[in-house]
Amino acid sequence: MTHRLTRVCATCLRQQRLNNKYVDARKTPTIWTHVLRNFSMAPSSSDRNSDDPDATAPPGPADSHSSRRALLLGRRRPLSPLERVSQLLPQDSLSKEVWELREKKALGEAETEEQAQEVPTVGESQVEDDAVTQGEETERMEQMMQFGETLLAEYRRSRRVEFRKMFLLQEGAKLQSNWGFLPHQTIAGLPSGSVLRTSVGLPMLLRRPSLEEFSLFMKRGPAISYPKDISAMLMMMDVSEGDTVLESGSGSGAMSLFLSRAVGSRGRVLSVEVRKDHHRCSVLNYQRWRSTWKLRRGEEWPDNVHFHNSDLINSAHLLAGQSFHSIALDMVSPHLALPTVVPHLHSGAVCAVYLANITQIIDLMEGLRCSTLPLVCERIMEVQYRDWLLGPSLKKDGTFNQRKPMREETSEEDENSNDEENEEHTSPKQIPFGSVPYIARPHPEQFSHTAFLVKLRKILK
Ligand SMILES: C[S@@+](CC[C@H](N)C(=O)[O-])C[C@H]1O[C@@H](n2cnc3c(N)ncnc32)[C@H](O)[C@@H]1O
Repeated sequence: MTHRLTRVCATCLRQQRLNNKYVDARKTPTIWTHVLRNFSMAPSSSDRNSDDPDATAPPGPADSHSSRRALLLGRRRPLSPLERVSQLLPQDSLSKEVWELREKKALGEAETEEQAQEVPTVGESQVEDDAVTQGEETERMEQMMQFGETLLAEYRRSRRVEFRKMFLLQEGAKLQSNWGFLPHQTIAGLPSGSVLRTSVGLPMLLRRPSLEEFSLFMKRGPAISYPKDISAMLMMMDVSEGDTVLESGSGSGAMSLFLSRAVGSRGRVLSVEVRKDHHRCSVLNYQRWRSTWKLRRGEEWPDNVHFHNSDLINSAHLLAGQSFHSIALDMVSPHLALPTVVPHLHSGAVCAVYLANITQIIDLMEGLRCSTLPLVCERIMEVQYRDWLLGPSLKKDGTFNQRKPMREETSEEDENSNDEENEEHTSPKQIPFGSVPYIARPHPEQFSHTAFLVKLRKILK
């Protein structure tokens, strides 16, 4: 009881101190103005006249409405979630709806305080101008989509990806899907990220694939090392620009592509594969990515991977005279290859091993225990991602739940709402802005197990 009383008293004292600070601050309006300006919605004209490099930037929607800003700065009231988030974003990037919502709230409050001023609406032309400027910047970075490029088509309905396909853009060809077709002719010459209507009127997104997507969708021989695991391996191996890396087996070439990017034009990758068909598959995927990159950027992807068709275990002659900053092994029985490769690994460097089963890890560790190889196992790990769903909360009938004021009781109808059903009946355009609560939960479809990763470090024994 005494303990609880002490805590209550301490809280009261803290509150009192805060109140005093608040009163002091009100007496010195310059401090408040400064604090509020830091959280305000747009740079003031004095900000623009400063040395800030953004000072020459074209005025955003906020600049033309200083009266509205002043109105908003004058207010002191609890911030809604929308306001909290929107004040943290660059003000030039805010959508028209946010500005309209702010206006509405500002006007409502100003009227009650008898300070209502005329608040002009955001000019649509300004928003459009901004979009055009952004578009021009993107175009400067990359070429338009063109024949010969590998592209990705994507159709999403509601929160789900219904269709996703990687394809080569070819003259006279058609992109076929259960959601209608698109002649390739209509795609060529557009910027990546364009949305076209299929023959049945559905919106299809056309864009360039990332390296992760390319490796997931490219033609496969054997299973690939998954990008989520590859990124962890690159970190384990501490691969840096200019490094020389040994990899085996090449498989479908996914790991080779990521290594190629990591070591860059000054680095080199030696990729060894025992099977001829897999060797061919990895080379083809590598060439396809390089040629699509050239069309996309107008410059060569570094030709830094040397693919070699041989058994790594018997490749001592191939490795003679070479040394590596790191080694990546994704092959059966890697412990049998270690005696061949470890002498060529820099001292203190890492050999990362990718194995699907824990029993294979036991074989590897047993192999190490029985050998005199100068290796220590530093880590055995698994990389797990957890995808989440986040979206506006829906009722069973497909209409949106409405955010309720704190004191209001939740109706029975809302409690029984189901955010999954009928969700496709409502298009994003119909979402009432700013008043719908969100639901967030782990995605029902998750990545299953892919592999275990082992980090072996070479030491001087
Ligand atoms: C799972 S795949 C590698 C996939 C590759 N990491 C990728 O990302 O596409 C394993 C490959 O190792 C190759 N392999 C198995 N034993 C080998 C050996 N002794 N020397 C070279 N390659 C070997 C197999 O033929 C197979 O292509």
